[in-house]
Amino acid sequence: MKIGIIGGTGDIGQGLALRISDKHEIILGSRDPAKAVEAAESIIATLKKRGTVSSCRGTSNEEACKAADLIIISLPFQHVASTLAGIDPKYIAGKIVISPVNPMIRKDGFFYNNPPEEGSAALAIRKMLPESAKLVTAFNNIAARKWTILDEVLDYTVAVCGDDAEAKKTVIKLVRETSQLYGLDAGPLAVSGIVESITPLAINIAQINGLKDLGVYIK
Ligand SMILES: NC(=O)c1ccc[n+]([C@@H]2O[C@H](COP(=O)([O-])OP(=O)(O)OC[C@H]3O[C@@H](n4cnc5c(N)ncnc54)[C@H](OP(=O)(O)O)[C@@H]3O)[C@@H](O)[C@H]2O)c1
Repeated sequence: MKIGIIGGTGDIGQGLALRISDKHEIILGSRDPAKAVEAAESIIATLKKRGTVSSCRGTSNEEACKAADLIIISLPFQHVASTLAGIDPKYIAGKIVISPVNPMIRKDGFFYNNPPEEGSAALAIRKMLPESAKLVTAFNNIAARKWTILDEVLDYTVAVCGDDAEAKKTVIKLVRETSQLYGLDAGPLAVSGIVESITPLAINIAQINGLKDLGVYIK
């Protein structure tokens, strides 16, 4: 697949690209295309050193959407609306869109789920996308640093929520071909708030107990 990552220069965007650009064509998007080009070159060089051939290029957020079959929104929640407003909806229409977005705040040293009035980031983002886009949540609960340590196996459960069965199947396949991630159908988009709220829980547990980059394995 051609996978466009909006905000692809960030921690999750680059981490994802490092893990899946050997199997898919990755197009990193940015507000600054030169920054995305640099990030893509660095990803290709890192993987080349390991003997892995990858496909990754950088461009604007809009071009990344235009070129993609599947789009990943890898932005802090507060910047999703303004970024999507700057992208022609025809480049998103009809496509699968993945949201790993968690609406969190930090207060008195602890992280809290801080959903918008819709109930979750995913339900708010659904309203920002063209009707025909198929929004699916995935990759919400894996720490960015884990993506970048390429010698580490990613053996977490990835809860996948969405309202389009075929889109969910495609995303679960993408998840399952990534390291040892185990993608599972977690229900409709309406329940995605549950998945988003697991991330602040994992961060708080890590902080309190002197642990790092905790993830979830549902078993
Ligand atoms: N970090 C994690 O461990 C983690 C884990 C699971 C899920 N998530 C979720 O994944 C999403 C991405 O997280 P991240 O840590 O990768 O985010 P990030 O690194 O903080 O930011 C991602 C990108 O957003 C763009 N950006 C920053 N400010 C912006 C603005 N004002 N307007 C438009 N774009 C802006 C930047 O790209 P350009 O400067 O190139 O435009 C940046 O590289 C978040 O919603 C987060 O909740 C994160």
